[in-house]
Amino acid sequence: MLQEAWWKRGIIYEIYARSFQDSNDDGIGDLNGIRERLDYLTWLGVDAVWISPIFPSPMADFGYDISNYCDIDPVFGTLTDFDALLQEAHRRGLKIILDYVPNHTSDEHPWFAESRSSRNNAKRHWYIWRDGKPGGLPPNNWVSQFAGSAWTFDPDTNQYYLHSFLSKQPDLNWRNREVREAMFQVLRFWLDRGVDGFRVDVAWLLIKDAALRDNPLNPDFRATQPAINRYLSLYNADQPEIHDLIAQMRAVLDAYSDRILIGEIYLPFSRLVTYYGQNLMGAHLPFNFALIHVAWRAQEIATLIMDYEKALPPGGWPNWVLGNHDQPRVAARVGAAQARNAAMLLLTLRGTPTMYYGDELGLARVSVPPEFAKDPWAKNEPGIGVSRDPCRTPFQWTGAANAGFTTGRPWLPLDPDYRTQNVECLQHDRHSLPGLYHRLIEIRKRHRALSIGDARVISADDDVLIYERSHGSEKLVIALNFAPESRRLSAPQLTASSMVLSTSMDREEMASDLKLRGNEGAIFVLSPQGRSGAGA
Ligand code: NOJ
Repeated sequence: MLQEAWWKRGIIYEIYARSFQDSNDDGIGDLNGIRERLDYLTWLGVDAVWISPIFPSPMADFGYDISNYCDIDPVFGTLTDFDALLQEAHRRGLKIILDYVPNHTSDEHPWFAESRSSRNNAKRHWYIWRDGKPGGLPPNNWVSQFAGSAWTFDPDTNQYYLHSFLSKQPDLNWRNREVREAMFQVLRFWLDRGVDGFRVDVAWLLIKDAALRDNPLNPDFRATQPAINRYLSLYNADQPEIHDLIAQMRAVLDAYSDRILIGEIYLPFSRLVTYYGQNLMGAHLPFNFALIHVAWRAQEIATLIMDYEKALPPGGWPNWVLGNHDQPRVAARVGAAQARNAAMLLLTLRGTPTMYYGDELGLARVSVPPEFAKDPWAKNEPGIGVSRDPCRTPFQWTGAANAGFTTGRPWLPLDPDYRTQNVECLQHDRHSLPGLYHRLIEIRKRHRALSIGDARVISADDDVLIYERSHGSEKLVIALNFAPESRRLSAPQLTASSMVLSTSMDREEMASDLKLRGNEGAIFVLSPQGRSGAGA
């Protein structure tokens, strides 16, 4: 039987490196910490780990400001530690995906130091420098994603440089061939070491309008929104030239076997799917963040699934993301009761699922008192709720001090609930949320209909979303109740005995009345081989 590529059948798990496991008591997670915890990931059943940036960095944006692409920041360890992690992960069949941050470097990167040193420096055009407008104004009206102008004036050479994020994150000039070559060498450096792929940071922002035209005002902007929303990103994002660039990155990966390119892209489906590239030679997986933004209701999610499926190019492999280090956690968005349905949804949809560390423990919005605040975006725009700290807090391993994350002082506070909400307490309780994730992953792996099969939405009436997954003669149906009250299932093909899993993990059969309880989801196996392979 032909095996689908690992990144199609597999499950990706994002680790925010600073918060997974500290091994040297400095209060910050590190590579040896991750290596010590691989058993847990194997137990959970995920196939690939994407690790947030671990490269030398002044940490103005916690690693997304890189001062050397080809080394490890001492806070995370050394290249030797990285190699040991990679080797140990591979020994267990786990893939390692690194974060690739091509849009900008740190202002402390030697390339930028050279670039800013004089207008005639050989690296001047590695970054985007422009004269200001008369009256001491920046070259155009672009706004940084973290508020304020996207331009900073450098008095030494009397020009402005562009930074889509902090002024400590100058944008590279991807129109420059030397930049492209240097950055492709970075990919090769890690591919040669054996990494299995990359998640490309802000892939849709990489290249800008050649004339750097002003963006138009956003007519729907409200003062309560982040400043970046004041203008429509017409000229600083999603430019036509981006696709050729991504195809070039992909070509670098394709010189190696079985590596994967994932793009971080926040765009509507119609634009997102263009990132699969011509003849699918772009990103293998342009991240689909729609579940993060959707109104959590049966009808909306049904529409989303159908719109996405319709938008996909022929052969383009879908993917779904429930959370990441920039977004409120899923349990904070949908509530604890629906978090179980969210798990079932993510792990039964068609397409590669990406989980975010700690979502499987039910971590929600962890309160971070102002004196502990870290996120530079929230410091620039206080009071409008953009802080990403509450979704980046340390993982909760045990009920011991600091949840076993560190014996030092954790860089962000933990949720006080860690004394009970931790891996040690929950892992072997099959009714727990991690227990449910573990079971769902097991079932997804056992059924090709779930891992690689087709998908069809059946209905989304009366708060219940019902869809089918099928592969050959195998057929499964998933029904999720988005209401807090019970709902009768009205799908003729379902029978009480075909149920194999409820999100509450406390029943293995449905009563003959075919009712889902409030907030309950269930999987039914309708194929001839039936429950034999799936029993709870
Ligand atoms: C997207 C990353 O996910 C986010 O954490 C970071 O702040 C920006 N890109 C800038 O690199």
